[in-house]
Amino acid sequence: MSKEVLLEIKNLHVGYKTHMGVSHVLNGVNLTVHKGERVGVIGESGSGKTTTMKSILRILPSNAIIKKGEIFYKGKNVLEMKEDELLNLRRKKISMIFQDPTSALNPLFKVGQIMLDIIKYSYKLEDEEAKEMALKALKEAALPDPERVFDSYPFQLSGGMRQRVCIALALIGDRELIIADEPTTNLDVTIKAQVLNLLTSLVREKNVGWIFVSQALGAVRENVDRVYVMYAGNIIEWGPSRKVFSNPLHPYTQKLLECVPKLTGKEFSKGIRGRIPNYFKPPSGCRFHPRCDYVLDECKKSVPEAVEVEHEHFVACNLYRR
Ligand SMILES: Nc1ncnc2c1ncn2[C@@H]1O[C@H](COP(=O)(O)OP(=O)(O)OP(=O)(O)O)[C@@H](O)[C@H]1O
Ligand SMILES: [Mg+2]
Repeated sequence: MSKEVLLEIKNLHVGYKTHMGVSHVLNGVNLTVHKGERVGVIGESGSGKTTTMKSILRILPSNAIIKKGEIFYKGKNVLEMKEDELLNLRRKKISMIFQDPTSALNPLFKVGQIMLDIIKYSYKLEDEEAKEMALKALKEAALPDPERVFDSYPFQLSGGMRQRVCIALALIGDRELIIADEPTTNLDVTIKAQVLNLLTSLVREKNVGWIFVSQALGAVRENVDRVYVMYAGNIIEWGPSRKVFSNPLHPYTQKLLECVPKLTGKEFSKGIRGRIPNYFKPPSGCRFHPRCDYVLDECKKSVPEAVEVEHEHFVACNLYRR
């Protein structure tokens, strides 16, 4: 992994327009991925992980509002890119694997047709070359009998196979960044591990940048270089995966890890009291303060600045400010 920056999200604020007014979800997200680096993003359901990932490719739902911030991809602000630059980014540079492999594949077309369309469109290849590329990708994604898969409709495949097709699609060409947003959540338990192993080994082999969003903390710990912890629209802690998991600093991260006794070797915790705040009227200051056992006066006033507590391990919490 080099230290060359591939992606840099800076102070990103995103909300949604709804019948209840405008929500304030992302509250100044900062996140960096270096070339070939594997980065994890963890946090409770509703903390804004998917919103952050969709912002990168600008595929947010139409009621989303990007209020503030910048997203640099190799130094260019994605939020200011023109349509053709953006299409190039989506077709050739960054790909995304979603939770639900069924909705990612158009049910009316055979897998082969879906793949050929994408390949021919992106790489301007003739039929035969494009088909070769598709079959090679299916084979790499460990699909038995790629020819048969190529000739099948998505509904003729199992969930695990469909997700392998999505992985094959995501890795076609020379991608620089793969975003996988809970890629195994919707799969059967028995298939989860297989698909995850496939994905992690392909990412390693191809040496691409990877953002792995998951609630499966053990899987994140094993498979990323650095991890970001998200709470209610803020990144509250980040650092080398090894350090964050063995020495969690933020009271929220500590509680989150305690929910997985296998990780800490301690007893199962009662969970985290309270719940993720209402995004229409979020708490002032540190958004975790109403749930925090160590809350200080200043926590209610302003969002705490990040402090580097140990080498490359940062936390945004007033307990660590000196
Ligand atoms: N289209 C939308 N319109 C209004 N609110 C939305 C929309 N999409 C997401 N939200 C809200 O934004 C917040 C963050 O959602 P997001 O999906 O980014 O969280 P997440 O961390 O990915 O959660 P999960 O772990 O459940 O996937 C939630 O409160 C959600 O209800
Ligand atoms: Mg999500």
